[in-house]
Amino acid sequence: MKILVTGGAGFIGSNFIYYMQKAHPDYSLVCLDKLTYAGNLETLEEALKNPLFKFVKGDIADREFVFSLFEEEKFDIVVNFAAESHVDRSIENPGVFLTTNILGTQTLMDAARATGVKRYHQVSTDEVYGDLPLDRPDLFFTETTPIHTSSPYSASKASADLLVQAYHRTFGLPITISRCSNNYGPYHFPEKLIPLMIANALNDKPLPVYGQGLNVRDWLYVEDHCRAIDMIIHNGRVGEVYNIGGHNEKANIDVVKTIIKALGKSEDLITYVTDRAGHDMRYAIDPTKIHDELGWLPTTTFDEGIQKTIDWYLNNRAWWEKIISGEYQNYYEKMYGNR
Ligand code: NAD
Ligand code: TYD
Repeated sequence: MKILVTGGAGFIGSNFIYYMQKAHPDYSLVCLDKLTYAGNLETLEEALKNPLFKFVKGDIADREFVFSLFEEEKFDIVVNFAAESHVDRSIENPGVFLTTNILGTQTLMDAARATGVKRYHQVSTDEVYGDLPLDRPDLFFTETTPIHTSSPYSASKASADLLVQAYHRTFGLPITISRCSNNYGPYHFPEKLIPLMIANALNDKPLPVYGQGLNVRDWLYVEDHCRAIDMIIHNGRVGEVYNIGGHNEKANIDVVKTIIKALGKSEDLITYVTDRAGHDMRYAIDPTKIHDELGWLPTTTFDEGIQKTIDWYLNNRAWWEKIISGEYQNYYEKMYGNR
């Protein structure tokens, strides 16, 4: 079995590579990644020691390159993680989100069709459903909830998602799609809420909470997401969408306070800043389908997962300190300098 993992030098893709190397030690894995600001080859250092793993640098939207890679490697399965993934960056500069997330997906599917790939799996997001109101805790996203996006990021992911379904219906491409809630865990780029708060707290820097911090996200430990994708690519029904989430809804301010407490810091570090434009209020996944059909359930509670994550950032300071001391400083100044 040979699997192409795109975006494998990023947060979830790299965790997926490590998960698959353990779960299926006989599989060949190829990682295709452009190494944008979010991709980091150092993350794959251990994975690269395995002779059944190969890294290829390239752009999923580069047609000629992608076609020649697919013709040479003859992949059985493609799992597409590669994307521009940060909502705040999509508000600053939407263009690259459309190129990578939509045209990149199309390019991969065209190459998959041309070379007889047996399964194309699209890693989508719960953000394609838009948001839920805070005063209706009875509402959850199911796979039939209408697509209704808020940010250029979620609109680009929804566009790709619809294109994947169209390729199945029109061309018979054997696809599956997963729509997961917010992930957290090792190798999470420090522009996202949880790693940003851990890094800032450790450096005694202000913790910038958007608006009043009441927005709710449904947090899932990254390994549980990886296991769900493994189950879907092997046992999921072709043409189907699967929601992934573990009923772990938390208001942002509570997540930030949990991190502060675990690190023994002061809540005085919390700084309320201007809200994100179009900020989604609440995400909440109903994972009944993946549970009933594939037997998937999350195994890591939020309390365990956040402690493991904090420990990872404490034990791997060099990984994130290198990131935040480089080009990322310009980003941080631009986004938070006058906020
Ligand atoms: P990330 O930003 O950490 O990693 C993205 C990776 O894709 C990076 O390694 C980057 O170099 C690579 N990449 C970007 N553009 C590329 C291109 N044109 N060609 C090849 N590689 C390219 O993102 P993540 O958080 O790991 O998210 C992975 C996927 O999961 C995305 O598709 C995202 O939409 C989806 N997702 C993320 C979450 C979450 O909470 N992070 C939740 C649900 C779904
Ligand atoms: P983020 O990690 O960017 O994920 P997403 O927007 O895709 O859910 O943000 C999670 C939540 O945290 C979101 O409601 C925005 C909020 N947030 C802050 O309050 N401060 C920050 O500095 C960041 C990055 C996010």
